[in-house]
Amino acid sequence: MPQIHALDALEILDSRGRPTLHVTCTLGDGAHGAASVPSGASTGAAEAHELRDGDPARYRGLGCLQAAAHVRETIFNALSGSDFSDQAALDSALIALDGTANKSRLGANAILGVSLAFARACAAAQRRPLWAYFAALAGEAPRLPRLTINLFSGGKHAGGQVSIQDVLIVPLAATIRGALEQAAAVYQAAAVLIRDRYHMRPLTADEGGLAPDFETDQAMLDLAMRAIEAAGFTPGHEIALAVDVAASHCYADGLYTLSGGRFDREAMIDHLLGWAARYPLISIEDGLAEDDWVGWAALCARLPAHTRALGDDLLCTHPARIRRAVDLHAANALLLKLNQIGTVTEALAGRALAAAAGWQVVASARSGETEDHWLADLAVGWRADYLKVGSVTQSERLAKYNRLLYIEARELASAETHKI
Ligand code: PGA
Ligand code: ZN
Repeated sequence: MPQIHALDALEILDSRGRPTLHVTCTLGDGAHGAASVPSGASTGAAEAHELRDGDPARYRGLGCLQAAAHVRETIFNALSGSDFSDQAALDSALIALDGTANKSRLGANAILGVSLAFARACAAAQRRPLWAYFAALAGEAPRLPRLTINLFSGGKHAGGQVSIQDVLIVPLAATIRGALEQAAAVYQAAAVLIRDRYHMRPLTADEGGLAPDFETDQAMLDLAMRAIEAAGFTPGHEIALAVDVAASHCYADGLYTLSGGRFDREAMIDHLLGWAARYPLISIEDGLAEDDWVGWAALCARLPAHTRALGDDLLCTHPARIRRAVDLHAANALLLKLNQIGTVTEALAGRALAAAAGWQVVASARSGETEDHWLADLAVGWRADYLKVGSVTQSERLAKYNRLLYIEARELASAETHKI
């Protein structure tokens, strides 16, 4: 049975230059694992607590030295020497040790770092790739996900020049390699269109999406259609679209403020249904505010079958919120972000609830990422329908795509059933 022999944590920097954690775990048999923790900016109110030092003299208060110390001292002292039969046993011990509802004592960043580093160490002990370890946890056959790739950005990831957060392209190619080829072609076509229309170099936002001064949200979607066509593809046939409205962040006092105007709940639902009728959208993420359960249920009921109501801030990967959404028919797809909930096991429970309800699952990175690519393995092992990690630029995004290319070509290549 795995025993924790050593734990260490280092404050490192994420893709926005903000501190985060790199955690290493060594088991009694010498197997070793390491993992880095991502960090969001467009966060949901129900997310587990990311512990920051609050010392204004360092990184504007965002330091993670306390969280690192919790790993090295509190967590290591409590867990070293115990036998953990599996991932669930380790994660339960972490949750009990923290003792709060939102992991605010030790920090969800500290807890997730240990949970993931332990997963990697166990995979190493079992001499399996990480995706095979995750697949065994889920009791599923691995499968490569489709990709949703950030083309245009707005909202909190791009200084708010336009209110909706992401317009994403969804290549429908049958392989990761083919999907990335298509995405790169559309990205290049979009960069040329932006140069011609906005007289701008291709400036990018936090996740690598292009971020010109769009006049309206609709202009973002229209230009995405144009870029797909300019790259030689047919929207809806070879490449579909997805959108992340991140509506909680443009909502106040009962009104949504988009560049096209101000909308109450009903008008917002009509507006979103208009997009679903006009564009080949596979999903609308966070189309309404994070606590508008009634509005979500109305939207979900009225969207066409091919356009999913995808819950990010609504659900926060929290099993209780997912259960509520299943009961209310408030969503039909889960955005899965491990640091929203803080352990591998709780995220797996959320995924199981979503899968049992017939929802789709979208494994997602955060806007603050590192070069670590555990998320690619998680998406494969847990049979995510889609993987959302940002644009096809920036190494913290490409680390995940490149890992998928490797898994596809060298690790899953022989098994036909593993194709997308
Ligand atoms: P975040 O945003 O990582 O900044 O929270 C991503 C998203 O809203 O999907
Ligand atoms: Zn989102």
